[in-house]
Amino acid sequence: MTDMEMINRINELRKLRKAVILAHNYVSGEVQDIADFTGDSLELSIKAAESSAPVIVFCGVSFMAETAKLLAPEAVVLLPEPTAGCPMADMASAEAVRELRKQHPDAIFVAYVNTTAAVKAEVDICCTSANAAKIVAALPADKEIVFLPDQNLGSNVAKELGREMILFPGYCPTHHRIEPQQLLQTRSQYPDSPIVVHPECPVEVTALADAALSTGGMLKYVRENPANSFVIGTETGIIHRLRKENPDKQFYALAPAPRCPNMKKISLESILKALETMTPAVELPAALIERARQPIDRMLAAK
Ligand code: 13P
Ligand code: SF4
Repeated sequence: MTDMEMINRINELRKLRKAVILAHNYVSGEVQDIADFTGDSLELSIKAAESSAPVIVFCGVSFMAETAKLLAPEAVVLLPEPTAGCPMADMASAEAVRELRKQHPDAIFVAYVNTTAAVKAEVDICCTSANAAKIVAALPADKEIVFLPDQNLGSNVAKELGREMILFPGYCPTHHRIEPQQLLQTRSQYPDSPIVVHPECPVEVTALADAALSTGGMLKYVRENPANSFVIGTETGIIHRLRKENPDKQFYALAPAPRCPNMKKISLESILKALETMTPAVELPAALIERARQPIDRMLAAK
């Protein structure tokens, strides 16, 4: 089947199933192009919470599809490629969080949304990279904070707020390996281009950038910045959308280009198959949904 034939069939089926297709900014361009909505983790959570569609096709990784299910439990949430996981989310287990609770019984536990539903069920409040500093800043000043699982996002927030936190030692393999040298090199190659990175990068990297923002924040930054060209220090999938929305601006990736192999697993084929078979669907026990949704609701209430 050609891409065009696949797209036509997806369009027939999405109508028949009354499905909404949500895509993260990192998935491949052809998937972004057929989505009803493309966004960052926070924007996608809000879309899922507001959606009344009986079917959500989630083009991203498993913790995002789980979050959509927590926020739209009545919907069938399809993750077209069930092996599309997030290695960072898998670094923190519910058991590890319970163990940390024993060591820090009075602390507030803040979980980056890049966690499994089982971990969310153990924490007090969630955050995304778009609102992490705001969520942490609103917590009582006399309370100890445990931040998980991303040590880099945690360090960046701690630095920004001048507030100490206990950090879980997780990291995103795609962003953790970005080195200061890569920024110095692109800076000398493109001296007039602002460098924008993701706060999942180590602090030594964010310190050299002009801005460290969520993927949604990057799109806004580029839209509002008068510069003609930008260096983008995150998964290169976002460059598709940046180019589409800013046809007159130039975008350069860091070298080597950061890639998240899991985000790239979602394809037109897998979306079509998911809509045909209505599988694989995210299944979570009702009791887990009830507990895991609370920290996300607290985050959304703080927006
Ligand atoms: P955003 O919320 O910034 O889109 O980031 C999600 C993510 O997984 C980054 O690696
Ligand atoms: Fe997870 Fe990193 Fe991929 Fe984001 S880019 S989904 S944090 S592995």
